[in-house]
Amino acid sequence: MEKIAFDFKNRTAVVTGGAQGFGLDIVKRFLKSGAKVIIWDIDPEMIEKTTKDLNNSNLISNIVDVSDYKEVEKHTKNITKNSNIDILINNAGITGPTATLWEYDINMWKNVVDLNIMGTFNCCKAIVPNMIKNNYGRIVNVASVAGKDGNANASAYSVGKAGAIGLTKSLGKELANKNIAVNAVTPAGANTRILDQMTKEHVERMLSKVPRGRFLEVQEFTSLICWLSSEENTFSTAAVFDISGGRSTY
Ligand SMILES: NC(=O)c1ccc[n+]([C@@H]2O[C@H](COP(=O)([O-])OP(=O)(O)OC[C@H]3O[C@@H](n4cnc5c(N)ncnc54)[C@H](O)[C@@H]3O)[C@@H](O)[C@H]2O)c1
Repeated sequence: MEKIAFDFKNRTAVVTGGAQGFGLDIVKRFLKSGAKVIIWDIDPEMIEKTTKDLNNSNLISNIVDVSDYKEVEKHTKNITKNSNIDILINNAGITGPTATLWEYDINMWKNVVDLNIMGTFNCCKAIVPNMIKNNYGRIVNVASVAGKDGNANASAYSVGKAGAIGLTKSLGKELANKNIAVNAVTPAGANTRILDQMTKEHVERMLSKVPRGRFLEVQEFTSLICWLSSEENTFSTAAVFDISGGRSTY
């Protein structure tokens, strides 16, 4: 299918977790649409592979743990010395293991909640002042249907993504009088590496709830991200965009 062309020329985008999966597809489409792209990811092997495969002078990749504010702040300062950051895609996330709440390891629970909420918070906190200065910004926070519906045996992930949704609604309103849009997206399951963190039964249960009866394709996801990240999105903000194949009806 021929893709709609988005104009991201003269735009700089930070994509967290961009070394693979959803993030990588977003990076590819942004580059194709003329953007300068910076990947922040913690996986050095995937970063090296992606950077080599894409071989694009408009791409910079950094090892950044988005759950560490100091690191995020340092890298933001480096970028904003020479350029604005126009687009932020808070995509880095982990599901954690499949376990009931009462059997969940406490530190693991904290890590999953922390990355999904604090990773999003840290990047917004560091980058939003630059967007305010420039009076332009498009932020998309990648949540999940789990954050709206709650998935059994995934309490930490459901809480983390619900937190990202709450953050979006709050920050979107704080910035609504500026040309800065903050939105969240709530995908259902897609066949990326993240599924390896869950049991096969859990993945099958998730899929059985999707009326479309199949996984979301990464390119379908990227299409939604592109519109939300584009200059064409002049009104929608503080909102949650569903892409769950009919699973969530709100
Ligand atoms: N794939 C799905 O079924 C699905 C469904 C709903 C929501 N999501 C969400 O979409 C986003 C992307 O998921 P994906 O399926 O592409 O996963 P993935 O595991 O393929 O990719 C996630 C990337 O995030 C990076 N990352 C992890 N922790 C990080 C950290 N602390 N700092 C920086 N980078 C970090 C990983 O190294 C990896 O490259 C996640 O937020 C996920 O929760 C995925």
